[in-house]
Amino acid sequence: MKTPSLQLDSNGRLRHLLTMEGLSRDLILRLLDRAAGLADSTSGAEKKLPLLRGRTVVNLFFEASTRTRTTFELAAKRLSADVINLQIAASSTSKGETLLDTLKTMEAMQADMFVVRHEASGAAHFFAEHAAPGVSILNAGDGRHAHPTQGLLDMYTIRAHAPKARLGFGGLSVAIVGDVLHSRVARSDIHGLRTLGCADIRVVAPPPLIPAGIETLGVRVFHDLERGLDGVDVVILLRLQKERMLGAFLPSLAEFHADFGLTRERFKRLKPDAIVMHPGPINRGVEIEGELAYGERSLILQQVTHGIAVRMAVMAEILGEAEAGA
Ligand code: CP
Repeated sequence: MKTPSLQLDSNGRLRHLLTMEGLSRDLILRLLDRAAGLADSTSGAEKKLPLLRGRTVVNLFFEASTRTRTTFELAAKRLSADVINLQIAASSTSKGETLLDTLKTMEAMQADMFVVRHEASGAAHFFAEHAAPGVSILNAGDGRHAHPTQGLLDMYTIRAHAPKARLGFGGLSVAIVGDVLHSRVARSDIHGLRTLGCADIRVVAPPPLIPAGIETLGVRVFHDLERGLDGVDVVILLRLQKERMLGAFLPSLAEFHADFGLTRERFKRLKPDAIVMHPGPINRGVEIEGELAYGERSLILQQVTHGIAVRMAVMAEILGEAEAGA
C-alpha cells in the first residue's frame, strides 16, 4: 500500500487522510492547533461554523461504530456540511453492489468527501485510488491497518492533558497495552508518537498479541505489565478485539485481566500525574476495572469529545483549504 504519497496532493497538501504514516510533524501539529481553535469557536451555545456550507459528506460504515461515526457526523454538521449516513445493511451493497459502484453512485450525487470504515485493511486506500478529482476519502478505520483520526485525537488528548507534554513529546513515556496485534489504533498512535518525537514508546501484551517485527516501528516490547507501566506518563489501553480473534489467542478473558488489566492496585502504582486512555469501546473488567473507566485521571470520555474537534480540523484542512486555493 502506498498510502503516504496518495494522501497528499502534488503541492504536499492533505487530499485524503488514510494513515498517520507519512504525515509530517508540521502537518500533525497544524491539525492539532486547528482542532483546538475549532473546539474554542464551537464551545458556546452557537456550535455551527459556515466553513463547509454547500459541501456533502457521506459516511460509509461497513463495520459497526458508535464514537467515530457520530463524531464525524457531528463534526461535518458543525461545519455546516450536508451529511448522508448510508445505511449499509439497507443499501444496494446487500444486493451485491461493489465498493467501486457504491463510490461512483454516491459521487454522481456530487458528494465531496467520504468517511469510510471497513473490515478490510486497504479499503480506504482502494476508495482513494478510485475517487474522482476533487473528492476526498477519510479513513475511519480499515482492518488492522490504520485509524488516523483516532491517532490524531489521541495525540490531541495527550498534548492537552499529560502535564509533561507541555514541553513537547520528547520526554514522554507512553505504554500501549493489550491487543496490539489486531489494533489499527496502536499502529496509528505509534506513528503519531514517533513523528512528534516521543522516544519511549512501549507495547505491553502477552506474546500472541504482539505482531512480529513491531520493534521496527521504534517501540520496546514488554510481556510484563508492571515493568511496562513503570514510570510512564501515558497509558493507552486497547480493546481486546474478540471479533478478530479467529484462533485461541488467550486462555481466558479473566486471565488476561489478571495479567494485563488495569486494576486499582496497578493504578495506585502509576505516577501521580499519569493519564489513562482507551479508544473505546471498553470491555469492562477486561482491559480496565469497571470503576476506573470514568474515574480519576481517565480521559476516555474526553477522547470522545476531542474527536469532534479533531475531525472538524481534518475536514476543514481538506475541504476548506481546497476551496480557498481553488
Ligand atoms: N474508537 C472507535 O473507533 O470507536 P467506535 O468503534 O465506536 O467508532
